[in-house]
Amino acid sequence: MKYMIVLGIRPDIINYQPIVKELKKRKRETVIVHTGQHYSYFFDELFFKQLKFPKPDYHLKIGSGTQAQQLGKLVQKFEKVLLKEKPDIVFSFSDANPALSAIVATKMGIKVAHLEAGMRSYDWRMPEEKNRRIIDSFADYLFTPTTGTKKNLLKEGISPHRIFKVGKLIYDVLNNFKDEIEQNDILDKLKIEKNGYFLVTAHRPENVNYEKPLKNIMSALETIYKKYQKEIIFPIHPRTKKSLKKFGIKISKGVRLFDPVGFLEFSKLEKNAFCCVTDSGTVQEDSCIFRVPCVTMRISTEREETVQVGSNIVAGLNKNHIIQAVDTMVNRKINWRNPYGKPDSAKKTIEILESKKDEIKQPKVWWEHPKITKSYSISSNVKKWKNP
Ligand code: UD1
Ligand code: UDP
Repeated sequence: MKYMIVLGIRPDIINYQPIVKELKKRKRETVIVHTGQHYSYFFDELFFKQLKFPKPDYHLKIGSGTQAQQLGKLVQKFEKVLLKEKPDIVFSFSDANPALSAIVATKMGIKVAHLEAGMRSYDWRMPEEKNRRIIDSFADYLFTPTTGTKKNLLKEGISPHRIFKVGKLIYDVLNNFKDEIEQNDILDKLKIEKNGYFLVTAHRPENVNYEKPLKNIMSALETIYKKYQKEIIFPIHPRTKKSLKKFGIKISKGVRLFDPVGFLEFSKLEKNAFCCVTDSGTVQEDSCIFRVPCVTMRISTEREETVQVGSNIVAGLNKNHIIQAVDTMVNRKINWRNPYGKPDSAKKTIEILESKKDEIKQPKVWWEHPKITKSYSISSNVKKWKNP
């Protein structure tokens, strides 16, 4: 079987690592396509290096732009790759724009496997919520990380035959790189100690593109620093950096901003933080796995299992609520259960796909499809029809 992986942003490179590793182990033909949505060294090349990820076979050079610009370019450029490569199956990971490449594949009759299916924030302001709902509606194989995400799909009337619960890819990745993370020297470089700092990230457009929520976040961080006398370590996304400048928001004492760091550095920072304060999706999962308290600066989460087990609070964007959530989380007993099963999600995923080889490689012309050739019947008992 010929597999195709489409990636384009930082978390794609991270989460596809165990899938690539599993396919390589089985010596499967794998074509890697980079959409080019992330291109800065600290979002892109650095991750290929650290995760020992093979060089992409195709680079679509899509870059930054509006949602429609990115999608338009992706559809046109990706079709050419599919026509040339003719893969049997295309992977679509999670909910960012590169995952929408699945639309082109399905339109061409190529099977689609959606990784991290069934996650729902029910927040229609998020481009990611739209993407994940669209992809889940048509993907042939929906790989869900948890029981909750599987239930979300069933509630939407999706056939259980398309759904497979396999656990969380990020758990595989953190397990695969546990030694390298442990050995990373970022704490020494930043002169910080375990439990001596808060780790912060913020990049969601609905938070940082507007003055009010961004001011609330920065003001909450100022208060948290004063209250706990622990530094705020904040590797900053370029979008957030631009907005801070645009709105003239001052950086208060105790808040350390710097360019995004690599996967190993960031994971080490997460693992040793006093508490993570974030609007990221993956950081909610990482901190749950690392047993570090997390506060999510959003009004919803698609990682509901982290809230259910008690590793995360969804605080909203009100300054006082963020501070209250931090107070609660740092005083909470760290005894939550890891909701992600075992770190073997990639293995399970590929095993399932390989077991469906005949179905995936079915005839590409409809008149050879076994169901169609055998089950057509003509009913003769309709006596009179009514206008319905
Ligand atoms: C994208 C994903 C988001 C994911 C995030 C991971 C979508 C809709 N959003 O958001 O789900 O959480 O990646 O980090 O797909 N920029 C750079 N260098 C880069 C890339 C971007 O400076 O390499 C700047 C540009 O000014 C760009 C802005 O960041 O306009 C936003 O980039 P974009 O890729 O559109 O969205 P992200 O916020 O990164
Ligand atoms: N990450 C990183 N360096 C940073 C910030 C985050 O390597 O400076 C990693 C982090 O380990 C996590 C992933 O990027 O696995 C999270 O990605 P992000 O928050 O950008 O996207 P989301 O998960 O919200 O889609």
